[in-house]
Amino acid sequence: MTLSELDTSQAFVGLLPPGSVIDKSGELVVAGCRLSDLAAAYGTPLYVVDEEALRAQARAFVQAFRSRWANSRVVFASKAFPCTAGYHMMAEEGLGVDVAGPGELAMALKGGVDPALVVLHGNAKSSDEISMAVEAGVGTIVVDNFDDIDRLENMVRSEQAVLVRVVPGVRPDTHAAVSTGHTGSKFGLPTADARRAIARLRASSHLRLDGLHIHIGSQILSVEPFARAIEAIADLGDFDVYDLGGGLGVRYTYGEEPPSVQEWIDALVGAARSHLPSGAQLLIEPGRSMVARSGVTLYRVISVKHGEPTFVAVDGGMGDNLEVSLYGQRFEASVVNRVRGGKSVDLVGRHCESGDRVIAGVRLDSPAPGDVVVVAVTGAYCFTMANNYNGSLRPAVVFCRDGTAQVRVRRETLEDLLDRDVLGR
Ligand code: LLP
Repeated sequence: MTLSELDTSQAFVGLLPPGSVIDKSGELVVAGCRLSDLAAAYGTPLYVVDEEALRAQARAFVQAFRSRWANSRVVFASKAFPCTAGYHMMAEEGLGVDVAGPGELAMALKGGVDPALVVLHGNAKSSDEISMAVEAGVGTIVVDNFDDIDRLENMVRSEQAVLVRVVPGVRPDTHAAVSTGHTGSKFGLPTADARRAIARLRASSHLRLDGLHIHIGSQILSVEPFARAIEAIADLGDFDVYDLGGGLGVRYTYGEEPPSVQEWIDALVGAARSHLPSGAQLLIEPGRSMVARSGVTLYRVISVKHGEPTFVAVDGGMGDNLEVSLYGQRFEASVVNRVRGGKSVDLVGRHCESGDRVIAGVRLDSPAPGDVVVVAVTGAYCFTMANNYNGSLRPAVVFCRDGTAQVRVRRETLEDLLDRDVLGR
């Protein structure tokens, strides 16, 4: 291997879960498991999660937060990776989870999350959903609108803790579709309305207003807007609890340098020290930054069409990764047993649209049909938004640890696909 080949391969390994290596035969190994073996054993496309890396990240968040603000809680934004085994892992690590809707709540409960540590979100919570949450004993319900308050007041018979979601009027530099804290956002209440909601909740007999919630968006690569958002809610009064949301961006490509977990929490806590009551409890809700790097996706190359560009077509695509088509997200990839990179190709999916490009312009070493390709940093929102476009079957999820892999979500089957359809006569 030349020095630059070495550089490329080490750069790629640097995007994989910490501890990933290239073994003596040049094969990529994650959590002690050879990626080519996983593809052979479990099929492709396949989501692979490094369990220890995920647990370490959960602990890193808790430790960084607790050491800077003792009265603090980390709540995993489970929409980033909503699988029952993932909820279970978070519960084991002592984290809470945020859920948006009955599906995520059901998985959290099945995964053994203490309902008291669950935070329920949503800008369109139905009565059934609120009733399910209240009956399950969900610790915190985040009020997004006045209809939430009406429904809760009709339903709650003993006491229910709530937070009010406030629009802080901050627009971070991120994709418009995942920006949520700006004036005009569909989530939460602008400050004038928030004041009315606060007054109403303070007068309520069964609803206990604990504090405020903000969440300004996702994949945010600078800490400054987070601090501004905290400042923006400071004059709404003094509260016991402030949930500061998620949004920390992650490194998908070689060039990106997102803030570290510690830098992000430094910024949040710094702003809280300046603007919020010192005795308050602080919550954060990291999603993407909790899970993204722990996960990779494996594909099998089906066809290579040489030309300008060369198309390397794999057996997945926008059925298992919508980040590219919806948000223009760039990823990096490698053949699992030839990591040094090579000629630039377009890695494309199997779905019937030209937008189904997994990565436009990625250096792969002599990709050929049958090769296994790994795409890095797919642990967040890819499994979440997997779909059946072109009848694709949603992939399995395997958790790997110390060289052992276990299926945590089985691959969808054709029977699953047909099961819900009613032919009619
Ligand atoms: N808290 C709330 C209330 C949220 O709505 C979200 C994400 C989070 C926390 C976690 O944000 P994170 O730390 O993951 O940035 N479907 C998009 C992502 C949408 C994020 C929605 N809310 C995607 O695939 O990229």
